[in-house]
Amino acid sequence: MEIVILPDGAAVGAAAAARIAAVVQRKPEAVLGLATGSSPLGAYAALADLVARGEVDLSRTSAFALDEYVGVPPESPLSYAATIAHDATGPLGLDPARVRTPDGNAADLEAACSAYEAAIAAAGGVDVQLLGIGANGHIGFNEPTSSFASRTRIKTLAPRTREDNARFFGGDLDAVPMHCITQGLGTILDARQLLLVAQGESKAAAVAAAVEGPLTAMVPGSALQLHRTAVVLLDEAAASKLTLADYYRFTYANKPAWQRVD
Ligand code: GLP
Repeated sequence: MEIVILPDGAAVGAAAAARIAAVVQRKPEAVLGLATGSSPLGAYAALADLVARGEVDLSRTSAFALDEYVGVPPESPLSYAATIAHDATGPLGLDPARVRTPDGNAADLEAACSAYEAAIAAAGGVDVQLLGIGANGHIGFNEPTSSFASRTRIKTLAPRTREDNARFFGGDLDAVPMHCITQGLGTILDARQLLLVAQGESKAAAVAAAVEGPLTAMVPGSALQLHRTAVVLLDEAAASKLTLADYYRFTYANKPAWQRVD
């Protein structure tokens, strides 16, 4: 795992964008894994700048979102389909026809989960998966005790997650859906590269548990320890509970030039 501690959220976003751009420059038809939430917004903004400057072109790139609420219509601005369209598809110049989110309104939700897995496989798998992390250590909507082998499926949101996300529903906890569809940890681990971004003190404990704690289903983010190419980009506050922070700084400062992408 590569852990990079950067001065602030803007630097985290720029570093994530540079790494995604490097993948697409090598492979214009790459498949991106997109995340919702506030954590990746800096990465999307920095990547949109690279697109606007003509340094990378995402028009042939496909994308799959990690997750979706059950029962929120895609036209609602609260759906992850609408969020991804607003935060990523438009600003990044992605072709909307190549961007998918799980169908949280399907009559047969289990079939929708299987169809999502099949669509990812048919696209050739995800080349680089952008991830945030929840305060309880979740990635996607894989709440604590999610299996490391899990695939796309229906989950019940943890009370902490519903409380954290109530801000998007006007602070009304009752309005936050109970259920979601999320790519499983096994699905996420199949991506060729994982790129987790975290900013702020509120993520410090979850980051430390995921990166330095034991491999445990109680911390779904610890699944990154199983991946061959996982990169964790942190601002100082999100890195503040890491035991080996100085080692990560030393490693990054001494990284050979040929290995640097940012
Ligand atoms: C959300 C999403 C996750 C996201 C996490 C953190 O509920 N399902 O993909 O990483 O929670 O959100 P934020 O980045 O807003 O803190």
